[in-house]
Amino acid sequence: MINFHLNCVLSNNYLKNEKMKLKNKIAVITGAASGIGKAQAVLFASEGAEVIAIDSNIDAVKDVILEIHNSKGLGYALQLDVTDEKAVKETISNIIQKHNRIDILCNTAGVFDGFAKSLDTPLTLWDKLMNVNARAVFILCNSVLPHMIEKKQGSIVNMASIGSYAAGAGGVAYTSSKHAVLGLTKQLTMDYAGYGIRVNAVAPGLIETPLNRDFFQTEGSGIKEVIATIPVHRAGQADEVAKVSLFLASDDASYIYGTAIIVDGGVTATLT
Ligand SMILES: NC(=O)c1ccc[n+]([C@@H]2O[C@H](COP(=O)([O-])OP(=O)(O)OC[C@H]3O[C@@H](n4cnc5c(N)ncnc54)[C@H](O)[C@@H]3O)[C@@H](O)[C@H]2O)c1
Repeated sequence: MINFHLNCVLSNNYLKNEKMKLKNKIAVITGAASGIGKAQAVLFASEGAEVIAIDSNIDAVKDVILEIHNSKGLGYALQLDVTDEKAVKETISNIIQKHNRIDILCNTAGVFDGFAKSLDTPLTLWDKLMNVNARAVFILCNSVLPHMIEKKQGSIVNMASIGSYAAGAGGVAYTSSKHAVLGLTKQLTMDYAGYGIRVNAVAPGLIETPLNRDFFQTEGSGIKEVIATIPVHRAGQADEVAKVSLFLASDDASYIYGTAIIVDGGVTATLT
C-alpha cells in the first residue's frame, strides 16, 4: 500500500516535471517584488525556471523568493535599480558568469504617473517615467542581447500597456513611455529575430496591483466609473497577466515575434 502511494506520488511528480513549460530555463524578471512581476516570478518558478528576481525593494523581493522556495521552486533575489546602467551591466554579466546563459528576460519593473496631464508633469516626473519604463528596458535588452545572440536563442517579454496604443491609461509620461516600449519591442524583433531571439510584449489594461492602490482605494477616484467602461466589468489580476507572459516566454510561442498580447478585459475592443 505504502509502495503504491509512493509510486503514485513519484509518477505524479514525474508527469508534472515533464509538463513544466520552463524546465531548466534561467529567467531574469525585473520588478519581481510586487504585482505583476511577483506573479510572473512565482508562476515561472512553478513551471521549472530558476528565477532571478530583481527589484529595488530587496526586502519584498526576498519574500517572493521565500514563497518560491517554500513551493520547492528555484531562484534568488537581487537588489538593483534598473535605471543604473553600470549596475545593470554588472548584474547581467554576473548572472551569465554564474549560469552560463539567460534564457528569458521579463522587463516588468515600472512606475506610474497618476494620470498627470502634460502641464502638471514636471520634467523630473517625465524623466523618472521614461527612465524606469523605457530607458531601463533598453539597457536591460542591450545587456542580455549579446549573450542571447551568441546562444542563438532567447525570449524577452517587455511590459507594455494598453497605454502603448492609446491615451488615457495613464498621464502623458506614462503613455509616452509605454508607446516607447512597444516600439522598442518591434525594432528589436526586426533587428534580432534572425538570431533566434523572440522579443514580445504583454499589454495589460487595468490590473489591480500596488501600482494603482490609491486609484482602487480612494473614495471618489473614479475607479467605479472606469470599471463600468471595461466590457467585462472588472479589473484584471496580476496572475492573469503572468499566465500570458509565461506563454510568450515559453516555447509554446515559438513563432510569435515582435508583437504584444493585450490583456484588458475587452477595453481596446471598444476603441474605434
Ligand atoms: N497595474 C496595472 O494596471 C498595469 C497596467 C498596464 C501595465 N502595467 C505595467 O506592469 C508593470 C508592473 O506593474 P505593477 O502593476 O505590477 O506595479 P507594482 O508597483 O506592483 O510593481 C512594480 C515593481 O517595480 C519595481 N521598480 C520600480 N522602479 C524600479 C527600479 N528603478 N528598479 C528596480 N525595480 C523597480 C517596484 O519596486 C515594484 O516592485 C509596470 O511596467 C506597469 O507599467 C501595469
